[in-house]
Amino acid sequence: MYFQPGESMTNTSLYALVTGASKGLGKAFALELAAMKKNLILVSLPGEGLEEQSKELRAEYGIDVVFYETDFLKNENIEKLGSWINENYSLEILINNAGIGGSCSFTETSAEYLETIIRLNIAAPTLLLHQLLPNLLQRDKAWVLNVASMACFTPIGFKTIYPASKRFLQHFSAGLREELRGTGVSISCVYPGPMKTNNTVSTRIERYGIWGRMILLTPQEVASKSIHKMFKNKKNIVLGWPNKIYRFMMTRFPPGLVLKVATRAVKKELIREKEQTP
Ligand SMILES: NC(=O)c1ccc[n+]([C@@H]2O[C@H](COP(=O)([O-])OP(=O)(O)OC[C@H]3O[C@@H](n4cnc5c(N)ncnc54)[C@H](OP(=O)(O)O)[C@@H]3O)[C@@H](O)[C@H]2O)c1
Repeated sequence: MYFQPGESMTNTSLYALVTGASKGLGKAFALELAAMKKNLILVSLPGEGLEEQSKELRAEYGIDVVFYETDFLKNENIEKLGSWINENYSLEILINNAGIGGSCSFTETSAEYLETIIRLNIAAPTLLLHQLLPNLLQRDKAWVLNVASMACFTPIGFKTIYPASKRFLQHFSAGLREELRGTGVSISCVYPGPMKTNNTVSTRIERYGIWGRMILLTPQEVASKSIHKMFKNKKNIVLGWPNKIYRFMMTRFPPGLVLKVATRAVKKELIREKEQTP
């Protein structure tokens, strides 16, 4: 389902597209861009309240907000979304935010979950950007922000697929940025640390106690700082000094040691979760 204003075929205004815009970090990105008076294209799964959210943003900020509901697990849906945007809207910003995480023993993980995370964290942002790049290249200046994670700076057992999927985004962003040098399109990649965006993540952060609270940023802080750095054409965006120290340590400590420590921490967390599950 999508909303399209009547005159959109002749719409010459510029738009910012946010995926996963109905909640969490995606919603914070949408709010931040609305406050900057950017017209928005909001994308989410069906039935997540985008119609109401779009109305509210239109009324509050006096911008145009359109929405599109789709499931990124099917490649054809991404193609349809890309064509709809290219036929109707001039894009200046793409925020590839939709993505999922999680911890689980690989042997106990279902094939369905593996496919979901690979499609959502790797295939969807790549295919969407591939579809929309010709549109972005028509601007004198355009920006792309891919949302990775601090988890991508080391492999982690019992997470395995999540850090690897976000590492893909890091390399993809850096390679494409270089390829697009000399064009108006700037590619940035942000590496958020923990944010309380949903119950599962919030419970996990609480379990880390004071350390969890120290490295915590709100989705609003992450969205606001990331967007400002994206406009400054930063290649890699790491936010807050605890995350910067963490990243520095990742590059200085022996990778084998970091992998062992990180894996042990996640394994402990999973055991504790199992013990606490009734
Ligand atoms: N939370 C953290 O601590 C944390 C830390 C580092 C990085 N990140 C990254 O930040 C981004 C946003 O995370 P979040 O915590 O705000 O999200 P979340 O609450 O975990 O929700 C998952 C996100 O993926 C979208 N999504 C899920 N399944 C989808 C599907 N089949 N098709 C299309 N979209 C789908 C959702 O969008 P809709 O519901 O709007 O459709 C939502 O934006 C993700 O890329 C995540 O990996 C999060």
